[in-house]
Amino acid sequence: MSDLTGKRYVVTGAASGIGHAVAEKLIKAGAEVTSLDRNDPTAPVARHIRVDLADPDSIDAALEQLDGEYDALLNVAGVPGTVSGPIVFAINTLAMRKLAEAFLERLVPGGSVVVVSSTAGFAWPQRLATIREFLATDTYEEGAEWFAAHPQEGNAYNFSKECSTVYVHAMGLAFHEMGFRINAVLPGPVQTPILEDFRETMGEDTIDGLATLLGRHGTPEDIAGVVVFLASDEARWINGEAVGVDGGIGGAVLAGNVPVPEF
Ligand SMILES: NC(=O)c1ccc[n+]([C@@H]2O[C@H](COP(=O)([O-])OP(=O)(O)OC[C@H]3O[C@@H](n4cnc5c(N)ncnc54)[C@H](O)[C@@H]3O)[C@@H](O)[C@H]2O)c1
Repeated sequence: MSDLTGKRYVVTGAASGIGHAVAEKLIKAGAEVTSLDRNDPTAPVARHIRVDLADPDSIDAALEQLDGEYDALLNVAGVPGTVSGPIVFAINTLAMRKLAEAFLERLVPGGSVVVVSSTAGFAWPQRLATIREFLATDTYEEGAEWFAAHPQEGNAYNFSKECSTVYVHAMGLAFHEMGFRINAVLPGPVQTPILEDFRETMGEDTIDGLATLLGRHGTPEDIAGVVVFLASDEARWINGEAVGVDGGIGGAVLAGNVPVPEF
């Protein structure tokens, strides 16, 4: 891993799971990390700003506390489908979008945004027209109103990740024109506190079946390395992409070798 001394990163969700692993990896490489989370991180971050990503005013207050320019925003925070649909959509999609766009004036030239979406959003092509309707809204508040009028019953988590993945694909060229990049990482199941909720909402058979097929679930470190890579100069020509980090299950589904998991 290259030396990141002097580089500055903001990591959301740094208090647990994948975000914690991302923060640890950056700090070990010498970077300065600012954490945005509703809980306190245990990684030795330079600064922690408490924020509730379900509340746009709280996000604005957190943004005001940021100082100077950053090399990347790593948007990792998220909640599972055991939480109510509007809150899932607010945290996983609306907050992600609001922060990504707020960083257009806070990134160094060549800087980037990485979004942790999910393989659970794999069905976005079937809902692209609806997702594009959402993407036509401009603000967090307008997006929340749109979702209230178009609730994705029983499926808010998947929909939130479909929207996040398509947002990243859709924004690559706009980021490029401004001298930045945006990419997504799509983890399969990862051993973090959220996984128990996924067993509840996506079915034990689905989640446990994937671990049986692959021999294990992913670890936060499996995902963190790719998040950090996408934010690095090594990935300078990767833009508007969604990179699966799932042990191979996504490719097997795409090729028709295994059935589409029933998330
Ligand atoms: N673990 C998996 O199996 C898996 C699979 C695919 C995608 N993901 C995605 O990875 C990301 C990280 O998940 P994880 O597995 O590390 O889960 P986690 O529960 O360990 O961590 C989530 C983090 O987000 C923070 N957070 C949640 N709601 C917040 C809010 N309202 N305001 C501020 N911070 C808030 C939590 O405090 C926590 O630090 C999420 O976006 C999740 O959807 C996880």
